[in-house]
Amino acid sequence: MEAVVCTKLGDPSLPLTDQDAPIIVSSSHPIPPLTSATSVRVRVVATSLNFANYLQILGKYQEKLPLPFVPGSDYSGIVDAVGDSVNSFKVGDRVCSLADVGSFAEFIVTDQKNLFLVPDGCDLVAAGALPVAFGTSHVALVHRAQLKAGQVLLVLGAAGGVGLSAIQIGKVCGAVVIAVARGTEKLQFLKSMGVDHVVDSSKESVIDSVKSFLKTRKLAGVDVLYDPVGGKLTKESMKVLNWGAHILIIGFASGEVPVVPANIALVKNWTVHGLYWGSHRIHRPHVLIDSLNELLQWLSKGVISVNISHSYPLSKANLAFATLKDRKVLGKVMLVMGASPKAKL
Ligand SMILES: NC(=O)c1ccc[n+]([C@@H]2O[C@H](COP(=O)([O-])OP(=O)(O)OC[C@H]3O[C@@H](n4cnc5c(N)ncnc54)[C@H](OP(=O)(O)O)[C@@H]3O)[C@@H](O)[C@H]2O)c1
Repeated sequence: MEAVVCTKLGDPSLPLTDQDAPIIVSSSHPIPPLTSATSVRVRVVATSLNFANYLQILGKYQEKLPLPFVPGSDYSGIVDAVGDSVNSFKVGDRVCSLADVGSFAEFIVTDQKNLFLVPDGCDLVAAGALPVAFGTSHVALVHRAQLKAGQVLLVLGAAGGVGLSAIQIGKVCGAVVIAVARGTEKLQFLKSMGVDHVVDSSKESVIDSVKSFLKTRKLAGVDVLYDPVGGKLTKESMKVLNWGAHILIIGFASGEVPVVPANIALVKNWTVHGLYWGSHRIHRPHVLIDSLNELLQWLSKGVISVNISHSYPLSKANLAFATLKDRKVLGKVMLVMGASPKAKL
């Protein structure tokens, strides 16, 4: 089968012909066999690129993987084979899931307990983009911060994978949503998603823009900060937080881990949530399962949508990584089996 294989650490956006390229695209990787009576083999239809996949290949992710490995975490596809004791799925079912590794390939094997049935009405490619991005934002905003209607939500990196999902879930919760992103195209798109206020971080001060918006709406401050970026933007955003605000630490796309001063958190009664979504599989599996099932229902009913700005075949995985690295993604970049390279903004 075809699979992307990481053979050494490095920049996965390098041309595949470059001698320093850390990934190769193999056309003769072995098809994984079923590994237990409850295992299921899925023919992958689509798999999403997450920032974590990029960091893993760079060797900068919190969990280090032994080389060589097939990268890839969330995916959707069709059940291809089932073990003797599988009772929840049958060959031909439409499913989606998340894995530690291995979805940048034509086939993947997992246990039935890790799979989710994709309801009728859900686009299968969109379902492959749902678990990590929307799952993270749903657990963060709904389960942890318990975002309420009328509260003010500030989303950094708002046009990226997790950011755009946070925007949508914020609107579903009835929050007043402020989005921070760079560039006219991203801002226009965010406005079209019903965002209440947008800030172009490449052109204006986040504090000034947010403060003037809050004043116009007679709002005191931000109740929930959703932060997948870190660095300078986090520091600035803390200046517009309300008494009792929730800070959701999601990631550090800027490369800089921010400092949240404990003295100010004390005085302002802030709650700081560290959120590592994937670890809920081990520590709170029911939270993750309930969350993903609710999201799949929302997707099937059109309550949320997945914006896929770029899709590539496995053989062009380096271009998909370049799109992510160059901050061109609006929502998600996908690897779609048999796809021709496509950009839709
Ligand atoms: N905690 C968890 O469980 C969890 C789950 C998923 C993702 N994450 C983390 O969340 C972060 C975002 O992930 P994602 O998949 O949404 O990535 P993404 O789609 O690439 O989005 C990241 C966004 O961050 C902004 N950004 C600001 N500074 C940047 C920089 N120096 N380099 C790249 N982007 C920068 C970009 O927006 P502008 O260009 O508009 O500024 C971009 O849209 C990553 O750190 C990831 O590891 C964490």
